[in-house]
Amino acid sequence: MSIEQEIQELRKELNQHNYNYYVLNQPTISDYDFDQMMNKLQDLEMFYPQYADPNSPTQRVGSDLNQSFRTVPHKYPMLSLANTYNEADIREFYERVRQGLEGEDFEVCCEMKYDGLSISLTYVDGQLVQAVTRGDGVQGDDVTANVRTIRSIPLRLSEDVNYPHEFEIRGEILMPWTSFEALNAEREANEEPLFANPRNAASGTLKSQKSSLVASRKLDAYLYYLLGDEIPSDGNHYDSIKLAESWGFKVTQGMRKCKTVEEILEFIDYWDKERKNLPVATDGIVLKVNSFRQQRHLGYTAKSPRWAIAYKFKAERACTRLNEVTYQVGRTGAVTPVANMDPVQLAGTQVKRASLHNADIIAELDLHIGDMVYVEKGGEIIPKVVGVDKDSRTEGMQKVEFIKTCPECGAPLVRYEGEAAHYCPNDSSCPPQIKGRIEHFISRKAMNIDSLGPETVDDFYQRGLIHNVADLYSLTVAQVCNYNKNREVSARKAVTAIQNSVNVPFERVVFAIGIRFVGETTAKLLARHFKSMDALANASVEQLLEVDKIGQVIAESIWRYFRDEKNLEIISRLREAGLQMSISEEAMEGQTDILAGQSIVISGVFAKHSRDEYKALIEKNGGKNVGSISKNTSFILAGENMGPAKLEKAEKLGVKIMNEEEFLTLIDN
Ligand code: IVH
Repeated sequence: MSIEQEIQELRKELNQHNYNYYVLNQPTISDYDFDQMMNKLQDLEMFYPQYADPNSPTQRVGSDLNQSFRTVPHKYPMLSLANTYNEADIREFYERVRQGLEGEDFEVCCEMKYDGLSISLTYVDGQLVQAVTRGDGVQGDDVTANVRTIRSIPLRLSEDVNYPHEFEIRGEILMPWTSFEALNAEREANEEPLFANPRNAASGTLKSQKSSLVASRKLDAYLYYLLGDEIPSDGNHYDSIKLAESWGFKVTQGMRKCKTVEEILEFIDYWDKERKNLPVATDGIVLKVNSFRQQRHLGYTAKSPRWAIAYKFKAERACTRLNEVTYQVGRTGAVTPVANMDPVQLAGTQVKRASLHNADIIAELDLHIGDMVYVEKGGEIIPKVVGVDKDSRTEGMQKVEFIKTCPECGAPLVRYEGEAAHYCPNDSSCPPQIKGRIEHFISRKAMNIDSLGPETVDDFYQRGLIHNVADLYSLTVAQVCNYNKNREVSARKAVTAIQNSVNVPFERVVFAIGIRFVGETTAKLLARHFKSMDALANASVEQLLEVDKIGQVIAESIWRYFRDEKNLEIISRLREAGLQMSISEEAMEGQTDILAGQSIVISGVFAKHSRDEYKALIEKNGGKNVGSISKNTSFILAGENMGPAKLEKAEKLGVKIMNEEEFLTLIDN
């Protein structure tokens, strides 16, 4: 056997074992033997680079190199589905289809609706050549390198099956519950922000610049839609998915062909309970008219097919006992009540704490300690209490009264007009507020001092080394390591990182100082408009209101911030420490007002610049890039293949459409 043949054989065998393990869940060899085989292939590929192949099973480990994603147009647009929530909606859909098909018999294929991110895979000659995210439906990001690391996605189809020369297959990329929980546990230990749900985790992972990181995160994929010019047009959806399954794809589970509404409802009922045992998140059922011919007959609306619909499950609810209400004080002094409950299983994870939002909600629920409460999970990490089972209440249970004083510093709480939250007004000496402001200051999007974290901040604060953000800049190595030689290296690292942060651009300093209601974007707008801290500090409320997007509440909050002596002193100390107190030449360069006050939508595919570059050009010239068309849109910067729905909307609202050349000429003037 030649070397080349040997390499091909090993790849084929490894592909088969991958399939057995990741698609069928039925490995036939030990992990050890698998690794041995993989090592052998790796060695051969290293010695004979002329036989390299991006679709070799060795490539599943990904690369450490940074990549940026190319935007590519979809051959067929990626549409979304209309949502329904109850039985009546389903009956209505069924009836619409029946009428659309003029009484002809039809089948509805029911399947799981996976809650991940959609992906479109293209195969040519049995090889994965491209993986593209949904993007805006017309074009998406080319994430092929990252997708290659997902073990259940075949990189090369087996030679023993008959597949078309070219086809596209679509499905959902997901992070299984087990991977998600392990990932969040690891992030919690490292004090990194947690992912709210597996979908966000999968999405964050897939957009990662390093494919090696994607490989380590253990994503999975289920495929549910086969497309291509060579797919028999007289076929049906069910058979096409079964066919794809036989080619080695992991496809949507539990597919069933239904003839009546009753059968559909039965399917929904069954999976509403059974889905809790699935390894990945699902949020509903998708109903698809089975026959391709009938699908074509029913056609599409601007946004979605008329032949398919999504039924969304009701949010999962659990019932458990409320043991105690505790209160958390945030960096702004806002006090959040938290329900502490008996642990209960909810939507795939164990829950023992839930948000109670504010005093009004507690009063509305008429909450008592010992109550059996209903908890639901929304999009956030923290579930919320949505109701109380009043029937199970017994006598003598104590009513929950919102606290009157700060649990951290004892200051009487206040409630500002028009706001639901209670606040601790003691911003200068309430510990969580002080620590929270410092944590915000060092965070990644602010000063990005990554050698420090909440634990170090807490430690420095406990030891009396820091009381505010300016104190950071006078820390010495000796203080930080507490004269302990063993800790000198890390202390030196921390002090250097703090000193280096003086180079962080002015707009991030504006964000870092933590003016209430001033987020990252507002800080940028303020920095560009006023250009220096002095000008910002001296601005009147009227002048602040002149800045795009800044309303009364934000303007007053900024004005108030700079009227507080304590804040001015901190700013002056930060200035002495060398922080950037005005906008740099670099940031100002090329800055114009040509598009000031204009909202611009970008749509389609461009030849001269990428979408991101156009977005940057819009911002550089004072305009704003917005996502959807409305009557306030100034114009649409349109490339090739602008979506039909957008085009229709633009015409209806009379919004001007501009092409690349026209736009570039406009900003050139
Ligand atoms: S079919 C033209 N099937 O739900 C029909 N979609 O709002 C194309 N999804 O963007 C979609 N599970 O990301 C289909 N079994 C399934 C699905 C599914 C999840 C997602 C998909 C799509 C969204 C529809």
